[in-house]
Amino acid sequence: MNVIDFVENRRDQHLEELKEFLRIPSISTRNEHKSDVERAARWVVDHLRTAGMQEVEVVPTALHPLVYAESPQLPDKPTVLVYGHYDVQPAEPLELWTSPAFEPTVCDGNLYGRGTADDKGQVHIHLKALEALQTHHGKLPINVKCLIEGEEEVGSKNLWDFVRNNRQRLESDALVISDTSMLAPGVPSITYGLRGLNYYQVEITGPSHDLHSGLFGGAVPNPLTILSRAFAQLHDRNLRVTLPGFYEDVVRLSPSERKALKLLPWDETHFRKTVGAPELAGEKGYSILEQMWCRPTLELNGIWGGYVGEGAKTVIPSKACAKFSTRLVPHQDPEKVAGLVEKYFRKLLPKSVTCHFEVLSTGRPWVAPYTHPIFQAAAAALEKGFGRKAVFIREGGSIPIASEISETFHIPCVLMGFGLPDENAHAPDEHISLDNYFGGIKSAALFYEKLATL
Ligand code: BES
Ligand code: MN
Ligand code: MN
Repeated sequence: MNVIDFVENRRDQHLEELKEFLRIPSISTRNEHKSDVERAARWVVDHLRTAGMQEVEVVPTALHPLVYAESPQLPDKPTVLVYGHYDVQPAEPLELWTSPAFEPTVCDGNLYGRGTADDKGQVHIHLKALEALQTHHGKLPINVKCLIEGEEEVGSKNLWDFVRNNRQRLESDALVISDTSMLAPGVPSITYGLRGLNYYQVEITGPSHDLHSGLFGGAVPNPLTILSRAFAQLHDRNLRVTLPGFYEDVVRLSPSERKALKLLPWDETHFRKTVGAPELAGEKGYSILEQMWCRPTLELNGIWGGYVGEGAKTVIPSKACAKFSTRLVPHQDPEKVAGLVEKYFRKLLPKSVTCHFEVLSTGRPWVAPYTHPIFQAAAAALEKGFGRKAVFIREGGSIPIASEISETFHIPCVLMGFGLPDENAHAPDEHISLDNYFGGIKSAALFYEKLATL
């Protein structure tokens, strides 16, 4: 029997166990779920022990605990650092879920529930891959360090401190993350680039208090109108960001990389269907994949103010607010961009309002060559696990700690994701394909096995 059969024989067991993990509502952004987040951390600890990890600990932080573990030392074998997160996004709007968010349900070859794809399901893939090796060989074939955090969805702030303060302990030959997507169903993918993310919040104030729009309207500034106008000016007709200097440090795609992206087995028709809009809308002059993976963007994420209840209320609100973000690509510097954004945004506002501008978080973009032999090992393992050749892709999402670790340790980062772009991460009816979940366990196990001989 090999590890593949081993995994096949335990399908039902694994699925039941993953469901147990998913039932814990470890929502990191909600204070009332703090004890659930802690419960999820302890759940990870227990299962890391079963997976053959020796030193396993819950590390308390200023917010949510992180879990750190090391396997028994094998002096002649390589060491991988496996990163994942056990925290999840809130499940609202609850009424849009077909089955309850925290009652995992199998339907049509998918497992539904918050955290299935992002990222508990993918963390579980590695727990089960390690366990398969441990049980099958009686020990793990390589040195493994696991870093599973509970704050990814709220910015990983305490993880950064942990990494900085534990450099020696975390030293490894490679970083492995499963928290990304595959290019398409059945196409195993290795991600070699992610965008960075800066997140902003603004509050602009006009009148010192709400005013009757009949008595005052016409003579006073309306913060909602002013805010909308400012946002309307942030893109031009070609959907380029108008912020001066925004594109200054952006690296142009090399002809060979552009060609490689063009050759990917990516289905535009399926993509359009997934989006569900009457038309797509992106920066002129770039392919869709380039727009999402290789170009920076500025997106308005939420805007509020004034009266939004039932019926009419004739009011000029005192304040208007918005949340917005920029996705960044190499070599944009998050701090520099944040400075530019604030300066330009303030310039767009008239003197009739004041503005409170906040940068909620920053995160660097990441892109790296995939020439190190470990990528061939990963691609071969994925090909065996999925029965199809692996592709190398970039993605538009952000995992700020990936760039942090890659820059701190100068080690190759292997991002083997088992989600799919249309699996509703962060949204109602989040799910993971069972084929990808089980294919993921097999591939990860084969990958670790292969590393022992590298
Ligand atoms: N797992 C995602 C990031 C991701 C998903 C990258 C799919 C590539 C493909 C992660 O949990 C996430 O949601 N990241 C946030 C940023 C984070 C700082 C909250 C994001 O990308 O918006
Ligand atoms: Mn994630
Ligand atoms: Mn996420």
